[in-house]
Amino acid sequence: MASRTLEHTPGGIAVHKDPDILAAAERLRGEDLCSIADLSSSEVRAILKLGHEVKRNPGAYRHALDAKQMVLMFEKASLRTRLSFESGINTMGGNAIFVDQTKSPLGERETIADVARNLERWVDMIVLRTYAHDTITEMAANSRVPVVNALSDFEHPCQALADFMTIEEHFGTAAALNFTYVGDGNNVCHSLMLTGAQLGANVTIATPRGYSPDIEIVTIAREIAQANGCEVRLLQDPQVAVEGADAVYTDVCVSMGYEHESTKRAPIFRPFQVNEALMAKASQRAVFMHCLPARRGEEVTDAVIDSPQSIVFDQAENRLHAQKALLLLLLGGLANVEKFQ
Ligand code: CP
Ligand code: NVA
Repeated sequence: MASRTLEHTPGGIAVHKDPDILAAAERLRGEDLCSIADLSSSEVRAILKLGHEVKRNPGAYRHALDAKQMVLMFEKASLRTRLSFESGINTMGGNAIFVDQTKSPLGERETIADVARNLERWVDMIVLRTYAHDTITEMAANSRVPVVNALSDFEHPCQALADFMTIEEHFGTAAALNFTYVGDGNNVCHSLMLTGAQLGANVTIATPRGYSPDIEIVTIAREIAQANGCEVRLLQDPQVAVEGADAVYTDVCVSMGYEHESTKRAPIFRPFQVNEALMAKASQRAVFMHCLPARRGEEVTDAVIDSPQSIVFDQAENRLHAQKALLLLLLGGLANVEKFQ
């Protein structure tokens, strides 16, 4: 075992004794992650702290999930989410089974409840990428093993955890940071708003009229923000929204499942493109962020996504580490890490 005095104490890894991590390990074991709103602020902090630790010290976790089985059932395409979950569990001793549901949506061949009642007999965790968010909550309601949202039309919690881990890596903390999202107010935007509020960031969202985030999510995010001394602002002018921003984030204008709206959306979203002129209005230290895949030349220009300000591939890398932390907590893997020290 590599010895690093700051991180290790005899008989265990120091960070595992962190009160946030201890409490999260206790409360989250066996739980689902359908939405960021399922987590408290201290649980979000715990996942990120553990994510940083797993990234620094991956070897300590190689047996943490020995023999654990995870199924991934995806109704939509994926590069980052699929591979980071598969690699994440494989490198901690577990195994992933991928089921392509792109041609056969969940609930079509048999009810979602019946699928859940089968899966829980074979696997320790269910990871779902769906269109309808209800598919995820229904699976969770009918399964005794944890269900994780790997993107629905409503949320992308694993993405937001990795993104704020990346922000912490870059700035040291997300607290009091000015985070601006420009673009469609849907899944990624919802999870970012909630996570930013949980971590005390000032979140500004700029969307075209008619594409603003769901009002229920905004209400929840504002309640969380109030408790954490930060704010959530909704604007329709991207130029105003990026003024003083420390992070400027965008996503595609046409999400999976909305391809038929491409022609209608193109002119509506054009003023929301993140280009050099827009980035020039942000803070001097501003970073550019994107969940990827990017439609270069549409929501972002090459000059921005390929600039030194861009941290998009750090975000992609951190999908792996943040999700490993999440899996460790949901599957009770930290106890095994201590055992193997
Ligand atoms: N960001 C993200 O979820 O990427 P994939 O769609 O490739 O999984
Ligand atoms: N909003 C995008 C995110 C892809 C990771 C979509 O839903 O297609």
